[in-house]
Amino acid sequence: MTNKTVYSKFANIWRQTRYSARPSKSELEIINQIVKKIKPRTIAVLGATPEFRDLGLRHSSDVVALDINPKMIREMSQLMRHKEKGKKVICDWTNIKLPDQSVDLVLSEQSLNIIPTKEWSKVLSEVRRILKPAGIFIAKIQIYQPDGRILNLDHLVSKLETGQIGISDFSSFLKYLPESTAYNRKNYVLSLKKHASLKDKLYQEGKISSKNSKIYERVFGSIFRHGLDLYVMPKDLTNKELKEFFTIQGEKYGQDFISCKFTPIYILRKK
Ligand SMILES: C[S@@+](CC[C@H](N)C(=O)[O-])C[C@H]1O[C@@H](n2cnc3c(N)ncnc32)[C@H](O)[C@@H]1O
Repeated sequence: MTNKTVYSKFANIWRQTRYSARPSKSELEIINQIVKKIKPRTIAVLGATPEFRDLGLRHSSDVVALDINPKMIREMSQLMRHKEKGKKVICDWTNIKLPDQSVDLVLSEQSLNIIPTKEWSKVLSEVRRILKPAGIFIAKIQIYQPDGRILNLDHLVSKLETGQIGISDFSSFLKYLPESTAYNRKNYVLSLKKHASLKDKLYQEGKISSKNSKIYERVFGSIFRHGLDLYVMPKDLTNKELKEFFTIQGEKYGQDFISCKFTPIYILRKK
């Protein structure tokens, strides 16, 4: 099962998931301010992210959800606040079914992270094609950046168990620990299944409580266990890919979680 189809397995539990599977409040506010300023007539979303579609509709933009999975579009539409759901186009981001220069703004919630890195250029080229000449691409992208992360297992576990960090930050830091085999530093693949196995091991060894293990299961369990892989490159390589197609106008960071600082929101202008 590939990343294009695996979402069907957990589309129905999306309401339970949290950051980092969903955008945080402060990240949404960053995007809200940009949308308020540029007043886009048309917004395309790479995926069916309910928060992004609501945001665009609130600003009276025409919103188009671009997603390969009709089931995901249906389930995500149910999580929207707006009655009006906007347009939906079923397509692959490597072949977007929209005309050239038809969109003012493209929004992307870690969409590139679910695309194998060798296909990033196809997606970026398609986004550039559909954008109008002064169009903007706002892309939230997970990056691999070991500096500044909590990289000591005992320290991470103690922070979780003493309530200093929640399950979202715990999960975000766990994958890069030396004890974790989830992230392959050579091909940039992050296996969420392996990530969940490490959590199981910590629970079996009595390092994390049953309460925290259950929260992890409820929030991330179904997503992680179905074999979704992410593609997370170091910052310099991520920037290099983006710069082939876009000018980086800025980077913003949410503040709700410590791990927000490893997930830049890139503001990109069409080259
Ligand atoms: C945007 S991503 C990441 C999830 C995100 N955090 C959110 O809030 O929507 C998830 C969506 O991408 C879709 N998807 C995955 N690969 C795709 C591709 N190659 N082309 C189009 N849609 C794709 C999936 O069907 C899923 O609905």
